[in-house]
Amino acid sequence: MNEVKKRRDLSELRSQRWFASDDMRGFAHRQRTQQMGMRRDEFMGRPVIGIINTWSEMSPCHAHLRDRAEAVKRGVWQAGGYPVEMPALSVGEVMVKPTTMLYRNFLAMECEELLRSHPVDGAVLLGGCDKSTPALLMGAISMDIPAIYCPAGPMSNGQWRGMKTGAGTHTKKYWDELRAGNITQSDWIELESRMTRSAGTCNTIGTASTMTSIVDAMGLTLPGASSIPATDSGHPRMASACGVRIVEMVWEDLKPSDILDRASFLNGLVAYMALGGSTNAAVHLVAMARRAGVDLSIDDMAAMAGKVPVAVNVFPSGEYLMEDFYFAGGLLALLNKFSHHLDLTRPTVNGQTLGDNIAGADCWNDDVIRGGDNPVVPLSRGKTLEVLRGNLAPNGAVMKSSAASPKFLKHVGPAIVFDNPGVMNTTLDDPDLDITEDTVIVLRNAGPVGAPGMPEWGNLPIPKKLLKQGVRDMVRISDGRMSGTHYGTCILHVSPEAAVGGPLALLETGDLVELDVIAGTINMRVDEAEIVRRRAAWRPAPPLYQRSFAALYQQHVSQADQGCDFDFLSGTAVVPDPAIY
Ligand code: FES
Repeated sequence: MNEVKKRRDLSELRSQRWFASDDMRGFAHRQRTQQMGMRRDEFMGRPVIGIINTWSEMSPCHAHLRDRAEAVKRGVWQAGGYPVEMPALSVGEVMVKPTTMLYRNFLAMECEELLRSHPVDGAVLLGGCDKSTPALLMGAISMDIPAIYCPAGPMSNGQWRGMKTGAGTHTKKYWDELRAGNITQSDWIELESRMTRSAGTCNTIGTASTMTSIVDAMGLTLPGASSIPATDSGHPRMASACGVRIVEMVWEDLKPSDILDRASFLNGLVAYMALGGSTNAAVHLVAMARRAGVDLSIDDMAAMAGKVPVAVNVFPSGEYLMEDFYFAGGLLALLNKFSHHLDLTRPTVNGQTLGDNIAGADCWNDDVIRGGDNPVVPLSRGKTLEVLRGNLAPNGAVMKSSAASPKFLKHVGPAIVFDNPGVMNTTLDDPDLDITEDTVIVLRNAGPVGAPGMPEWGNLPIPKKLLKQGVRDMVRISDGRMSGTHYGTCILHVSPEAAVGGPLALLETGDLVELDVIAGTINMRVDEAEIVRRRAAWRPAPPLYQRSFAALYQQHVSQADQGCDFDFLSGTAVVPDPAIY
């Protein structure tokens, strides 16, 4: 049991500085709240709970979050709080161009500033689709008031013609089959309406389930909340329980800084690796850790990946879906199987330790949730995350070797280099293109500054003519990211990126590229004198954006290995609370 802090007095709550003051401003705050139909006793003397809601009709993964906000409110009222719903940017992965990653920091800022500028004592954060989890939590960590993350939950299992189909994973798989001529256009259209059956996040272990599971293991959700399917009746019950618990957390003053330290991040890494999670988490976790003042690097992640094998048999690494994972016992059962890697003493939002929360968590299907003795991918075959360095990526690149073809883990091949995805896509489908499966396809200018926003372009397309020959994987390199639902021998997040003068900018078509995953290296076989010559000739492209948020992004974003946060947001410096003015 966690040591519970002394219960706070009402006068200590920050909302009191808005509602309890006996002056003209206090009058206005009370008056305007009553303007919305609230009785005085419905908000006076109660903790104010902000429900940050990323619902949007542009975000199918969050389509149910309006209802869940009502469930949270129910819990808040029951516990004696005053709930207020506060809409925030949705960053729905599917509709946003060029990439939601461009707006992760926007939502992080929005969350932090919504909480800071309003009379809020505690927050329930409603999100789930990829970037929303790190974004909302980055904001809450920086604001450091009591907060619970309420994950949207995975969508229902998908099925097509008797086969399990996973969001993202099978979109990519069948796209390749369509291009190879193995399915018809009408099959493809039929698939459109069969794969995604309900609200909720991707039903595979993409970035959404990777991130929600990680933060669950870190103690930032109610225990096991990340595994509950979006449409399960347990989901609104969980949301309501978030509402009850956040009021208690306000009285206990249980803040993110009380929960998060390096050990809690390492607990999150255990979940990350056992899930066979998305490479995107490598960026988000560094950003979150920096907000929390915790020292965490991509090398820490690779070290954990070397100890914890892929043990969850869910797409893209396995053959089941997230509902199957839930029915098998979900995250708590998984963590129980890997408890020897966890710091069980870490506190969590429910006031218990992680050890308390996972004690007795049973696994009901040992084929879905494996143990270290029977992993989906043994460590000798591949890992959730590898860090590669060399003269192409001095500050690191990442890959998921468990999702790569073993034959490519040590490979030398000639590069074909592209500067933008449009040219790449048309060129790769040219039937006369001189290319074999040994060629290394490279896309640059896909990084945080170059794209900007580091889109998920990194699962570069296999040329159509090679698809028709049966080729389904090649070595691909970029300074961009890859969807967590995808797979293949893709080297990602090359740092520094080409747009800021990283060595990827100096690679030329025809240069030999050498990949050795066991040795952790990625190099171009170009002699040093030639590299110096090319560097002297290199000139940066002018920034793509002269105004707008994208211009701000290009000026202030850090590189992938540093978490892609803004230089003025990273760190733990305290921002003055406006309530003192
Ligand atoms: Fe929203 Fe996958 S698109 S979670």
